[in-house]
Amino acid sequence: MNTRERLIQKIAQMPQVHLGHFPTPLEECPRLSEALGGPRIFIKREDCSGLAFGGNKVRQLTFTIGDAVAQGADTIVHGAASQSNHCRQTAAACGKLGLNCYLRLARDHKSIVQGNLLLDHLAGADVQVVDVPFGPELDVVKYELAESLKEQGLKPHVIASPRSTALAAVAFTWCIAEIHQQQQQLGIDAEHLYTASAGGTQAGLVLGAKTLGMKLKPFGCAPIHWDDKIERMRTAANTAAELLALDTRVTDADIQNTDDYIGKAYGYLTSECIEALKFVANTEGIFLDPVYTAKTMACLIEHIQQGQIGSDDTVIFLHTGGTPALFAYHEELAS
Ligand SMILES: Cc1ncc(COP(=O)(O)O)c(C=O)c1O
Repeated sequence: MNTRERLIQKIAQMPQVHLGHFPTPLEECPRLSEALGGPRIFIKREDCSGLAFGGNKVRQLTFTIGDAVAQGADTIVHGAASQSNHCRQTAAACGKLGLNCYLRLARDHKSIVQGNLLLDHLAGADVQVVDVPFGPELDVVKYELAESLKEQGLKPHVIASPRSTALAAVAFTWCIAEIHQQQQQLGIDAEHLYTASAGGTQAGLVLGAKTLGMKLKPFGCAPIHWDDKIERMRTAANTAAELLALDTRVTDADIQNTDDYIGKAYGYLTSECIEALKFVANTEGIFLDPVYTAKTMACLIEHIQQGQIGSDDTVIFLHTGGTPALFAYHEELAS
């Protein structure tokens, strides 16, 4: 049995629920490559992961909700920014699995009933926008709510770090195993893998690529400033390695991640990201999202233009989804 099959076997032993359409496609983008002067570019279409407009959280929730259900939960409590993709996909997953879903969302400049927030309501979640910042304070709100739901006889499970980030990393070792196989089928061996992440997605990609001895180096573009992001990702990757009983361990040097494309703050667009979003839609008919993937594409484009990626190289861009947020940003995008 080869290493990939062994990895897939270990992943299969983790508690999980069936949520999405996997494997997601790995699609070549010849017009985008040509417009950028050379490197072969493939997009791994996590935006086509099936549930509720897709995205990277479908794969992650396969394990986070799988873990909750294995512990007897009948209710999921989650919360994040008001246009959270994670919360939208959680609401849909709960609908599909017959679980109760409570979302507590931090009020911010995009707390409009559009995009993801609209879909949260349509999926039947109990949604409240609260005047508490996204982060540890919101986690307190989530845990307090879970306590009161327990008093009502429910069995709630709170989705929060560090557990959910480690399980998200497990999910993205599975994504890397798919990429490993798809590369063999396509006869390619990419040097670069670009993703929007400061958490479980990149942690899992790094762990998986190292475990499988791949040439490809995952490079992350953070959507948010977090001083401890490298430590968080290293911890998530190594907890995932323990959960999967892998010998591989990830070090800080394995984690390449930049904050340079965030712009003003999380959830605020940059002119480069708007341009990148339109460019990919126009060359390939693929829509990126404004908060994560378009900023990452702006980074990839700049790295190609600066020569950090050669015209003979091969790049995989992980499209982590988030496209419903386009509709909450219609004013910025239409101007
Ligand atoms: C579209 C999109 N891309 C990337 C990410 C980052 O994922 P992670 O938290 O696993 O790094 C998110 C997380 O919310 C997301 O919604």
